[in-house]
Amino acid sequence: MNSELIRKDFPIFNTEVGGHKVVYFDNGATTQRPLPVIQAVMDYVTHQNGNPHRGAHVFAIAASEAYDSSKEVVRDFIHARSEREIIYTRNTTESLNLVARSWGETHVKAGDHILITIAEHHSNLVTWQRVAEKTGAILDYIYVDKETGHFPEEELKKIDDPRVKILAFAQVSNVLGIDFDPKPLIQRAHAHGAIVVLDGAQSTPHKPVDVQDLDCDFFAFSGHKMCSMGGIGVLYGKEELLEEMEPFLRGGDMIDVVEEQHTTFAELPAKFEAGTQYVEGAVSLVAAIKYIQAIGFDEIRAQERKLVTRCLEGMKKLPFIHIIGPKNPEEKEGLIAFTVEDVHPHDVAQILSADAICIRTGHHCAEPLHKYLGINATCRASFYFYNTEEEVDYFLEKLKNVRKVMGYDD
Ligand code: ALA
Repeated sequence: MNSELIRKDFPIFNTEVGGHKVVYFDNGATTQRPLPVIQAVMDYVTHQNGNPHRGAHVFAIAASEAYDSSKEVVRDFIHARSEREIIYTRNTTESLNLVARSWGETHVKAGDHILITIAEHHSNLVTWQRVAEKTGAILDYIYVDKETGHFPEEELKKIDDPRVKILAFAQVSNVLGIDFDPKPLIQRAHAHGAIVVLDGAQSTPHKPVDVQDLDCDFFAFSGHKMCSMGGIGVLYGKEELLEEMEPFLRGGDMIDVVEEQHTTFAELPAKFEAGTQYVEGAVSLVAAIKYIQAIGFDEIRAQERKLVTRCLEGMKKLPFIHIIGPKNPEEKEGLIAFTVEDVHPHDVAQILSADAICIRTGHHCAEPLHKYLGINATCRASFYFYNTEEEVDYFLEKLKNVRKVMGYDD
């Protein structure tokens, strides 16, 4: 990968803190946007902006074309069968809420089990708590092995329980970094007719996704974690499931016929896209997908693997660093959560920030996982293809100083 060339597309990396170029290792939270994405949005708002599906004038038509044509790019990107299966939302969280409300609350009954994992992001956890509260269903968890971060077979047997109506989990954990290899788990759930909801927020930016091959029933991801502007997310759903679901939000453009007391709804996917659509978001998502595809997932994965390997090797030489989850680079999808002995993660982040390094700290919206592992908070370095080995070396060098800054005599 020609990092020098790629980084020219990201002017934000010219930002300096204390005379050093910013080292951005918070890509699990949000990625940076390259010039072609910024330019695509600029072009759209400069020359085409209108309200789609609602007018006969030049801008309304241009907006409709930009919006509608974007669906084919997204469909192809995740290998859905039809554009009818691609619904735009604000983000992964909204996509998961849509499924929980529109499918979960109407299909789950008292006594059914909703099965999630202890490694879930709150967006795939708090959402299901509500469905359980509303319906009287039982929210059950698959627990990870505290050392390896993986699911022991004993825990996975919970999937085979015929009372499980929904299995919902993240393909890649935003804390452990593990890809949980969803396909066999999906097959197990389908064996007794459960539906499977996959959170693809941390997988879609880093590896090819084929929803038909996975055979998941729903798949959610966010644009901003893969170089798009914020505020656009995607929900993929199998057409037959989406067809029978109630709309999540009601309003303009999601209707067929509206009478005083009754409304019929538009065809998919419009049924789930009430209100003025976020065309700028769709335009930026398309530009981001094209940008990523031009680089290619082979290159992206190779670069991330190189960075994770180098960072883990360096961290293992520092006895005061504790890595969360697996320590083998093959098992980490572009992110490493860790703690520094005796130093609170927020202090670690603040010290590193003064050295122009951006990492995330806290519970990363995965509070139950942290509690289960017996920790309050962690630090997390998360990489993307534009990060370099020089940045990793600089990060490791500054990490060595953290305890010294806090007054420890290592
Ligand atoms: N879900 C994002 C993260 O893990 C915000 O940082």
